[in-house]
Amino acid sequence: MITFLRSKLLRYFIFCSVALVLVLLCLFWRSSTSKLPSRRLVTLEDELYKVISSSTYRYSLNQPELCEGREPFLVFMIPVTGEDSESRAAIRKTWGRDNVVPGVDIARLFFIGQPREPKPQPEEYLQKESSEYGDIIQMNFLDTYQNLTIKTMMIMNWLATYCPSARYGMKVDADIFVNVPYLVRYLQNQGKSSERDYITGSVINDGHPRRNQHSKWYLSEDVYPESLFPPYVSGAGYVFSIDVAKKISWASRFVRPIPMEDVYVGLCLHFLDVHPVFCRTFFPYRNLFEIRHLEYDKCTYAQRIIVTGFTPSQLLNIWQHFQNDRSSC
Ligand SMILES: *[C@@H]1O[C@H](CO)[C@@H](O)[C@H](O)[C@H]1NC(C)=O
Repeated sequence: MITFLRSKLLRYFIFCSVALVLVLLCLFWRSSTSKLPSRRLVTLEDELYKVISSSTYRYSLNQPELCEGREPFLVFMIPVTGEDSESRAAIRKTWGRDNVVPGVDIARLFFIGQPREPKPQPEEYLQKESSEYGDIIQMNFLDTYQNLTIKTMMIMNWLATYCPSARYGMKVDADIFVNVPYLVRYLQNQGKSSERDYITGSVINDGHPRRNQHSKWYLSEDVYPESLFPPYVSGAGYVFSIDVAKKISWASRFVRPIPMEDVYVGLCLHFLDVHPVFCRTFFPYRNLFEIRHLEYDKCTYAQRIIVTGFTPSQLLNIWQHFQNDRSSC
């Protein structure tokens, strides 16, 4: 009788402990997810959506035929300002050059907003540059740091509208070195997993809003009440399968705009339940989308996809060396 009671008690005890652990796990899981925004399908108020909606702005200079009769493997989408003509020239001669990887179709576009001095028409020199190179898109919003989120949404909308036949898009800043052959090989080797719902770069997992009003990245609790950002890819450069462009455009109907374009893209991805993939190697460990500036060395650069922090003339010099140095690494 006693042993029967004991084993019954024991079983009861085990049952209760398991239940308690489960309850605690649930509570922990809830508290960690409530630090992130919910995924409720509630559309933004019109006033808020208007700020980032692609229908608010227009492409005053456009290249609507860039992808006609063509299926680019990759399209570089490069945000610059109108005055950045030196950067554009350097990119056209280096990683953005036509036929940079033989046999792989890669397109290049520069995205420019409106300069501070408002002009109703695109500046003459931009029109000239645009007809010479066919790689300039200008849009009618003010070209400021805070408006980069708008620019990124216009980039996504452009791809979804004018280039759905492309395989991948890459948003990449102008001060960056891109090892295009490595990037192409990398993407070709990803296989099926990178065909849809794919976005890769340098993933930031522990981002959180700054509540200090003097910070460049200040976000009030009204605009973003949660205490964490979902994982997002650093805005310096990231690559995505082309379907993601349209999905992000759609998601922006539901995600409140914030002036940090890479975090905003992360919020749209979170809403879509698309998980950014860290682009790295193990043994040895390398972040292939390097967000620090690395001292130039052929072999170091040969084993990265991007390196950040170059002036146009540095880019030209390094590229030339990188191309001509035949030493194997
Ligand atoms: C963003 O662009 C809009 C449209 O040109 C402009 O009214 C607004 O002032 C800009 N916002 C910032 C913060 O620069």
